[in-house]
Amino acid sequence: MELASFLQDVVVNNFTHDIASLSVVLLVIMVLAHLVPYLSDPAGLRAYPGPSLAKLSKAWLARIAYHGRVNASVHEAHEKYGTFVRISPIEVSIVHPEALHQIYGHTTGTTKSDLYSAFTQFGGTPSVFGTRDRTEHARKRKIMAHIFSLKSVVEFEPIIHSYQRVLVQKWDRICEAGVRGNGGVEGSCVWRAGNERAWFDCMRWFNYLAFDIIGDLAFGSSFGMLAAVRDSTQIVTSQKAAMDAYGVQDAKLEYKTISAVEAINSASSIGVFLGILPLWLRPIVSRFFAAKMKARSSLGSMAATALLEGRDEQDRPLGKKELSAESLSLLVAGSDTTANSTGAITYFLAQNPNVQAKLQEALDQVLGPPGGDSDNGDTAPYSKIKNIEYLQDVINEGLRLHSTVGIGLPRVVPEGGITVLGKTFASGTVISCPLYALHRLPSVWGNDADVFNPDRWSKGDRATMLKAFAPFSIGPRACLGRNLANMELLIFIATIFHRYDFVLGTPGQKLEVHDGFIRKPLGVSVGVKRRGA
Ligand code: HEM
Repeated sequence: MELASFLQDVVVNNFTHDIASLSVVLLVIMVLAHLVPYLSDPAGLRAYPGPSLAKLSKAWLARIAYHGRVNASVHEAHEKYGTFVRISPIEVSIVHPEALHQIYGHTTGTTKSDLYSAFTQFGGTPSVFGTRDRTEHARKRKIMAHIFSLKSVVEFEPIIHSYQRVLVQKWDRICEAGVRGNGGVEGSCVWRAGNERAWFDCMRWFNYLAFDIIGDLAFGSSFGMLAAVRDSTQIVTSQKAAMDAYGVQDAKLEYKTISAVEAINSASSIGVFLGILPLWLRPIVSRFFAAKMKARSSLGSMAATALLEGRDEQDRPLGKKELSAESLSLLVAGSDTTANSTGAITYFLAQNPNVQAKLQEALDQVLGPPGGDSDNGDTAPYSKIKNIEYLQDVINEGLRLHSTVGIGLPRVVPEGGITVLGKTFASGTVISCPLYALHRLPSVWGNDADVFNPDRWSKGDRATMLKAFAPFSIGPRACLGRNLANMELLIFIATIFHRYDFVLGTPGQKLEVHDGFIRKPLGVSVGVKRRGA
């Protein structure tokens, strides 16, 4: 008995002792792993100021990302430390219009950092967005580029109108109920009535609109979210089973219902979609691989067709996994961004009644008095609105102030180093120019940089402002969907502000935003009534 107790004592004590020693060793290794590179400073970054924690580890970046205030914190750091801020042991953030062009321009040779590895799909297959290799990216981009040329996207216009019309028809009914003093519910939209208006959160409607449009454009099949006024779609439970079923007629798959908008928003990335293939990909899949593919002429599947038929210089098409990765990346890149931008612009206009009235006057001049019949649709044709300068100024100002993609998009310095604003950065260093902070730089935008003022675009130094304005980024990795996004924003904003009058849900209400890779308004509560009805 005594022996047993003795042995137990030895084992437990030794074990405890071993754990304690191991913890100390691990701690020392961790400290050294951060301290040695900091002290030896192989990349020559010690001279750059920044938060102390950021110089030693990525914990500073991780903390601000975790708290959903990446852009605000980096902006504050620039206000405190100046143009150059070391935001991680290997990354320097540089806020300056010249830096934008020196980092992201066509001849810089920079590549996307390993942050983008998180955006791979389908067994590690990156989309055009996530591809880091320059040659591979050029190949994919060439295949995709013609889909998004201005000439091609104009052909998407009827699809945009068809969904915008559904929104208008539903909002007309909600506004009529508001005038009669009736609150109500449709799908997941709850509105209340008061002061001859209907009061509701318009953000979710913009999500449904943007998701339905991109589903239709890219895959020829929408989510049906606007019709149902609900964020719900079916997905297959197993990605592998779905991939195996490619091209198989009547394949049996299991599905479950999820909230797609929420899934994408909650991660602000495509990560949540890992391991699952949405049901709406099924029609694409059969389209991609069906024998009669080429005979199809539906507008709704143009992008899908173009993806399928696109070829690189060596006449190679996209592979099966690449097609899936591209389809999914279009859904993510093309829906959330547009919806969030529309939500933010609507908020700014509701917050600034004078700007709203000026915009409505400009729209009335071109589109005629408001009050059209919603059954016949009263959506704004692109050909009529594309040259309304004030409309474009309102949209640009909204994109500037909100900065839907606001982070410094991290780029790796190529062999031979790079010089930015006279400072040389060694190969392998990560550099970035934060768009949110750039869009608020007082030296460009003045001391009212935080104010929504579309007049600055006509009254200020437009050339200087345009050099520091990059909501879609610039250079070889700039947004591929820019033409489409711009057309959508013009049609959305012109249509709804010509037809309705907006006020904020509560006076002085702030725009609450989840501030990650994408800056997402958490809700835009407004009071809406028909104009001229
Ligand atoms: C207001 C709406 C939009 C904004 C603010 C926006 C912004 C951006 C930005 C800043 C980038 C560069 C990202 C980076 O370097 O990491 C980007 C890339 C991209 N965007 Fe957009 N975007 C919008 C709408 C769209 C739409 C509608 C589509 C397509 C349907 C789209 C497709 C893409 C793609 C494919 C890329 C990757 C391009 C490449 O790496 O070559 N975007 N976007």
